[in-house]
Amino acid sequence: MKSKDAPRQPGDEAPIHIIDLIRKKRDGGALDAREIEFLVTGAAHSSIPVEQLAAWLMAAWLRGLNVDEIRALTLAMRDSGERFDPSRLGRSAVDKHSTGGVGDKTSFLVAPIAAACGLAVPMISGRALGHTGGTLDKLEAIPGYRTSLSLTEFESVLKNCGASIVSQTPSLVPADRVLYALRDRTGTVESPGLICASILSKKLAAGLDALVLDVKTGSGAFLRKREDAEYLAALMVATAEAAGTQTVALLTDMGQPLGSAAGNWIELVECIELLRGNCPAESEDLRQLSLALAAWMIHLGGKAASPEAGYQLAEAALTDGSALGVFFKMVDAQGGDVSVFDDPPAFHKPGATEVVKAWETGYIAEMDTTALGWAVQRTGAGREKAGEPVDAHAGIVFHARRGAYVEQGQPLATLYATTPAQIAEPAALLKRAIRFSPRPAQAAPPLIHQVFTREKAEAYLGDAAKVKKTASSS
Ligand code: URA
Repeated sequence: MKSKDAPRQPGDEAPIHIIDLIRKKRDGGALDAREIEFLVTGAAHSSIPVEQLAAWLMAAWLRGLNVDEIRALTLAMRDSGERFDPSRLGRSAVDKHSTGGVGDKTSFLVAPIAAACGLAVPMISGRALGHTGGTLDKLEAIPGYRTSLSLTEFESVLKNCGASIVSQTPSLVPADRVLYALRDRTGTVESPGLICASILSKKLAAGLDALVLDVKTGSGAFLRKREDAEYLAALMVATAEAAGTQTVALLTDMGQPLGSAAGNWIELVECIELLRGNCPAESEDLRQLSLALAAWMIHLGGKAASPEAGYQLAEAALTDGSALGVFFKMVDAQGGDVSVFDDPPAFHKPGATEVVKAWETGYIAEMDTTALGWAVQRTGAGREKAGEPVDAHAGIVFHARRGAYVEQGQPLATLYATTPAQIAEPAALLKRAIRFSPRPAQAAPPLIHQVFTREKAEAYLGDAAKVKKTASSS
């Protein structure tokens, strides 16, 4: 008699039971493609109870997924709903996706920049996840902006504007819609395999010609350790390439919030400043990273012979106002009221505001950026329970960067909260997250550590020892 955990043979069509899949993963076994498809279909069609999906996710988080399971999960999630066919757009379809960070708002810059350079950017994004903010929550700070479009509407916005940013829907990657929200509530976000499948299912369902991934490392990343982030970058590049999408990953620093604002409306305002050609010093890292990501999109999309040439085109689109034009056109096409950008401070109506001042004199030596992300969420910018609304006006603007010298009493950050009662917790988190030193900090890590191409990713994954060491780490 066959044991329950024996690998299935081709043609073995024995019934599958979710309880067996939970127990198998709990005990360190590997699921085959048919079992993974069963699980994903059950998530998409709500035929598997949510507590059993949650139990399987936790088992997968603890035990890890091997490369074959991750590939099968990615493809099954991609195929859990309809797929978008961008071939009728008459332009190369390219996109960018980040593994998640604090103040990470590059989508609002790279999508219009790439579209202004003649590419189509069909971007399927997510909501706030764990300590990180969500592109969709930020866009919904614009009155009227609709993130849930039918495929026909998505295509029409793309044809007219070049870029469209939308959500997963009951018809578009429904499995990720369910599993993404469940991971957020069950502490199962920080898993390389689950992150890879979540991101790539959305990107592959959009039928992209090319994809640029921004894989974060450092204190605010889901995978903080450099070796884990490298593994995730290699895994995602190899998985997307095997599915037929030309892909590169940039491994980038998340050791401090990106730019100065972290929240919903306030992040859009920071981006609009850049799209209008202004760049305050505290937004310089945001500008540099956005241009680097857009440069690769433009190169892979066939509009520039090299990423360096792509960078020149990206910079021109940012400074000549063409990217701003695309952004406004897209917002308008998706029902958003662009007039709120006429006077951004007038539209900003937080329930409570407080300036946190430096509690000592010295250099900012370290930032626990994950704790800063939780501080942002607790102002009201994030949600406690799935489906809860978020406060468009809540968040934190940081006035000092890592390495800066500050005097006691100098403003460090401005907190915007939904109610006065929601100031104390984020303020306390912020105080615990920032460490001062009397001496200048060592040189800051580079903004972009390295670039993973297909060749580099395959060479990395070919090193079995590395895969074994990091496949299930957090
Ligand atoms: N972004 C996603 O879409 N999914 C993840 O799991 C992490 C970041």
